[in-house]
Amino acid sequence: MNTVPTLQLNNGDAIPQIGLGTASLNDDTVAPVIVTAIEAGYRHIDTAFRYDNQRGVGKGVRDSGIAREELFITTKLDGEFQGDDRAIAGLDECLRQLDMDYVDLLLMHWPLPQRDQYVSTWRTFEQLLATGKTRSIGVSNFKPAHLERLFTETTVRPAANQIQLNPRITRRDHVDFDRAHDIVTVAWSPLGQGKSLLDDPLLATIGATYHKTPAQIILRWMVELGLVTIPRSSNPDRLAQNLAVFDFALTPEETAAISALDTGEEKRVDSDTMGH
Ligand code: A2P
Repeated sequence: MNTVPTLQLNNGDAIPQIGLGTASLNDDTVAPVIVTAIEAGYRHIDTAFRYDNQRGVGKGVRDSGIAREELFITTKLDGEFQGDDRAIAGLDECLRQLDMDYVDLLLMHWPLPQRDQYVSTWRTFEQLLATGKTRSIGVSNFKPAHLERLFTETTVRPAANQIQLNPRITRRDHVDFDRAHDIVTVAWSPLGQGKSLLDDPLLATIGATYHKTPAQIILRWMVELGLVTIPRSSNPDRLAQNLAVFDFALTPEETAAISALDTGEEKRVDSDTMGH
């Protein structure tokens, strides 16, 4: 079984550097994947109210037999829970579905800037932090400008910002901004959703040096950049493969070459396009 190193959040809590993404899995499909993942060594699981799979995530955790405190569980609240106090009922509903007493990290799923409610929603997140129903609070798909507003108008600094990031969408400026403000960047869809990115010849060439797959080269690159990442897989071999990236290291030249795969065209699945 693989053991995954942790990074420290700005409140002192530890977050495993590789977690399991569960978007696209439903209540029925997610539970056995969680059991397999925990057996393989995963201790960090990422879900969201929007994924409609939290009951299955909770079932998978219980079926695995692991103690709750061994795990780092993230969930997210989306648009319907934005605005004064709405996140209180939102987190209660997430905990009810998960059948857990607390989550480790509660994220605001999108800033939805056209609604202009993310500041008041964050104030509710601050209250939720004080209740102990979440150990840490953070954001997702936030740009530096959105974070700047939170810094100016609220008290608690987000622990994490979860954004889409892969070698073709490196978001260097966002990562640097997060780091400068002691916010851990979490990369979603690190493998480019399993599409053409994995066929890139550079990843195959570097992989051949270390006897690793293109997916492993990407995940190792993320580890070396100091990111947390949450690749998705339903396949037992690939679940294990995606954790087996702590027995080799890339050279600085290889890391730079992978970063240079950035196309400069960020796929805008983010706050500008999500109007809900
Ligand atoms: P599968 O579930 O069959 O393993 P992302 O995390 O970037 O959204 O990518 C998820 C996609 O990548 C899924 O379709 C998943 O398919 C595939 N995938 C996950 N791990 C690997 C891997 N190690 N090698 C190839 N494809 C992978």
